[in-house]
Amino acid sequence: MTSAATLSRSSALQAAQRVDLNKNIGTELRGVKLLSLSDDEIAEVKQLLAERGVLVFRDQPMTLAQQIELGRRFGKLHVHPAFAHKEHPEALRIHADADSSYAAGEAWHTDVSCDLEPPGISMLRIEVVPSGGGETAFASMYKAFEDLSKPIQDLLLGLEAIHTGDLPYRGTYKSTSKKEYPVNVHPVIRTHPLTGKRALYVNTGFTDKIKGVRGRESKALLQMLFDHIAYGVEFQCRVHWEPQTLTMWDNRCTQHYASWDYFPETRSGWRVTTVGERPFLAL
Ligand code: SIN
Repeated sequence: MTSAATLSRSSALQAAQRVDLNKNIGTELRGVKLLSLSDDEIAEVKQLLAERGVLVFRDQPMTLAQQIELGRRFGKLHVHPAFAHKEHPEALRIHADADSSYAAGEAWHTDVSCDLEPPGISMLRIEVVPSGGGETAFASMYKAFEDLSKPIQDLLLGLEAIHTGDLPYRGTYKSTSKKEYPVNVHPVIRTHPLTGKRALYVNTGFTDKIKGVRGRESKALLQMLFDHIAYGVEFQCRVHWEPQTLTMWDNRCTQHYASWDYFPETRSGWRVTTVGERPFLAL
């Protein structure tokens, strides 16, 4: 028997035109109005996002309040430990212009992996786009893990890494705040709770050290993994932004890199992010 919920779920997303950005990661869904989705359709978007890593939705005009409400439908919202907006703590301003000394996210990373329960889904809506560039590159951490040779996979399955907020917030972004930023230990390979698939979970943004090994061993191992991610063009895609494009990514199985190639032009938008679960590895 087919329930009404099943019918409505299949109609909205099945009617969408799907264009894959890369065989391994990223799908643009055309014809979906995010603000009109039913609960069943939200669940379906979450599942597809866990499988594809990145979903791009064009022409999604909405206010920040509506974006925050949309985010809430995907889970409990994340408050950024360093840059929470004063008026809208559940939103992160993403903005760079002629006066900026940096643009957020200009290195391969997954969002705020220093948290004990790091972000699950991020949804970024860009309102002002530069005349060219300002794209975001994404990489599949499922495929990054899968493409490693078996002996390296076996080694990584037994390791944990230390992720620290000081690395980006004091290091890259030169914060002088007295605040203590989170430091947490996560498995180097994590299992995605919705797909059951394994994903590589170390990143140049936050991962400081592999736990329990010598400093030079940690440095060499991390550099090998960071290079593997950065050079892995066969498991990367790029999102080109238009005004009111909303892109969602699943931080549990992807990394991203925001290209700041448009200085001194302006690029501006808002990110709303859900809290994920504590990373785990199912053996
Ligand atoms: C980020 O969330 O890291 C920023 C991504 C972007 O600006 O494209």
